Amino acid sequence: MSQETLSNLSREDRRFEPPAAIAEHANLTAEAYDRAAADPEAFWAEQAERLSWDQRWDRVLDWDDPPFAQWFVGGRINAAYNCVDRHVEAGRGDKVAFHFVGEPLDDTRTITYAQLKDDVSQAANALTALGVEAGDRVAIYMPMIPEAVVTMLACARIGAPHTVVFGGFSSDALASRLEDCQAKVIVTADGGYRRGSASALKPAVDEARTKAEALGHTVEKVLVVRRTGQDVAWDDDVDVWWHESVATASTEHACEFFDAEHPLYVMYTSGTTGKPKGILHTTGGYLVGTSYTHWAVFDLKPDTDVYWCTADIGWVTGHSYIVYGPLANGATQVLYEGTPDSPERGRWWDIIEEYGVTIFYTAPTAIRSFMKQGREIPDKRDLSSLRILGSVGEPINPEAYVWYRSVIGGDRTPVVDTWWQTETGAIMISPLPGVTAGKPGSAMTAIPGVAADVVTDEGASVPDGSGGYLVLTQPWPSMLRTIWGDDERFKETYWSKYAAQGWYFAGDGAKKDTDGDLWVLGRVDDVMNVSGHRLSTTEIESALVSHPKVAEAAVVGAKDEDTGQAVVAFVILRDEAGDGGGDIVAELRKHVRTQIGPIATPRQIMIVAELPKTRSGKIMRRLLKDVAEHREIGDVTTLADSSVMELISAGVDSSPGED
Ligand code: PRX
Repeated sequence: MSQETLSNLSREDRRFEPPAAIAEHANLTAEAYDRAAADPEAFWAEQAERLSWDQRWDRVLDWDDPPFAQWFVGGRINAAYNCVDRHVEAGRGDKVAFHFVGEPLDDTRTITYAQLKDDVSQAANALTALGVEAGDRVAIYMPMIPEAVVTMLACARIGAPHTVVFGGFSSDALASRLEDCQAKVIVTADGGYRRGSASALKPAVDEARTKAEALGHTVEKVLVVRRTGQDVAWDDDVDVWWHESVATASTEHACEFFDAEHPLYVMYTSGTTGKPKGILHTTGGYLVGTSYTHWAVFDLKPDTDVYWCTADIGWVTGHSYIVYGPLANGATQVLYEGTPDSPERGRWWDIIEEYGVTIFYTAPTAIRSFMKQGREIPDKRDLSSLRILGSVGEPINPEAYVWYRSVIGGDRTPVVDTWWQTETGAIMISPLPGVTAGKPGSAMTAIPGVAADVVTDEGASVPDGSGGYLVLTQPWPSMLRTIWGDDERFKETYWSKYAAQGWYFAGDGAKKDTDGDLWVLGRVDDVMNVSGHRLSTTEIESALVSHPKVAEAAVVGAKDEDTGQAVVAFVILRDEAGDGGGDIVAELRKHVRTQIGPIATPRQIMIVAELPKTRSGKIMRRLLKDVAEHREIGDVTTLADSSVMELISAGVDSSPGED
């Protein structure tokens, strides 16, 4: 973290008191902090009571074999029943679950809870007919359409863990995930609408199936939603149309209840090595964590609020705060398929106005891009329905926070800056909108029930005004249970740094300001954050090195005004490749796109003769980051060959890499 950022933090003295109207009727009030701290298990049991259990638990937490936790031991529950059926049984079947807004104008659908129950039941019956049983994994590779949510819930209903792969990932990325979790079935669509045109998905699924086959894994069936009407290649033995199977299945489905620790889903996320980690979440604790936080942090009033989270269901935010949390709470939501600027730049604000959105949850990268476009665009719309704004995915700069609050929120709305991770399953650190006097740029404090601290390398709590590593010092219900198929990596990655204390190490650096409030500063490992999405440096390096002309590659995340961080790569070419020929930079960028996906495309690639290495051969990324961020190069005394940096800097000045 730069000195400048740190000193900015200490200067921040703006405060925004919670509006009286929210404070007065807040779902959770200040007393909850002490009550939860005094007896966390009793507090979590109280939150669990908000759900419907087929059988109550005997024990709230089993932490006898850390770091392997079991929550609500002995409890039996069905996530889909809690998200759908129970609302219908309570007489709320006519309530809107989703206002679906497709990217093409006027392509909308209204889905009530009763309709959702029928849809989920049909999909559960159809998946069962395809041979999916409890415990089998189902991969989902879909656009942001209601069928994606229906599929997730249908999987949950029959106890088949889903793994949703973001539709922007390439067939290679999909194939490695299919293989890792041994998915039996893939649910996809012919395509979806993005940036004004139909973008295909099925061809990537077909390729991924072949690639998974080469890795020794066979996918049995592919269920395909017809969304865009594009031509698709068809394999009669494998491919099944949604409209011929799901849509014709019975709307009756008796729901089975599963153990609270039954796997709910696997979500792949980047780590410090090239291989993505399959984060496993289980049913009871995850549902408790997501529904409680959604209710408390967004102060959800299900009868009057219209809630919109702009995340894609391919990321954890879509899982926790579009599907499981809000639906368990019986919320009415907007679900939008496309991009913010299609067909023109005010699309999001039009949607807020049209549906009277009251709670809006998005990412700093989006907020910064709207700031850049200017306030004239949102100013043309009536956004007065908004009452709470949320931010997630990366640190929100104080200026972006203030712009968000004043331009989008009309200076009325609290902004909740929510810190959490794929691994934590639910929000851990955030202001409470009816309690906290918000401070721009700070995620403030751990929410009631969660215990966080900022500590030194040795595990000593840092004093106010200092920085260190962010840790969670108590287990929480929505915590990841393991890395799919790799308990050792789970222990090593998250629990080894502070093994003696039994703390969870989040991989983020943070600071306590002089009031003791928390500022999350970003990753301390080789994971970068591009537009709120985690990418591993090693994964991109491996993609580059898989190109026949590349000998070695080092990737760093460099500060970027729009995306938070951007991918910058330093590449050494093989001798036989000469200068690479043609436009080598464009060729390599394209290669990364196809290997991983557009999100990983380097902003800049610099062809270099050498990389800075320590005597033990470790690449010193810190120095490359200095170059990428146009800073004075730091301490080079541990370099094996100190002239290397001069060579690189000289080369950078004349490099054609920028575009
Ligand atoms: O570095 C932190 C950053 O995003 C990482 C988690 O990424 P992911 O698992 O993809 O989940 C994103 C959505 C929860 C964290 O380790 N991060 C997330 N939210 C914030 C944040 N950094 C600062 N402030 C936040 N509010």
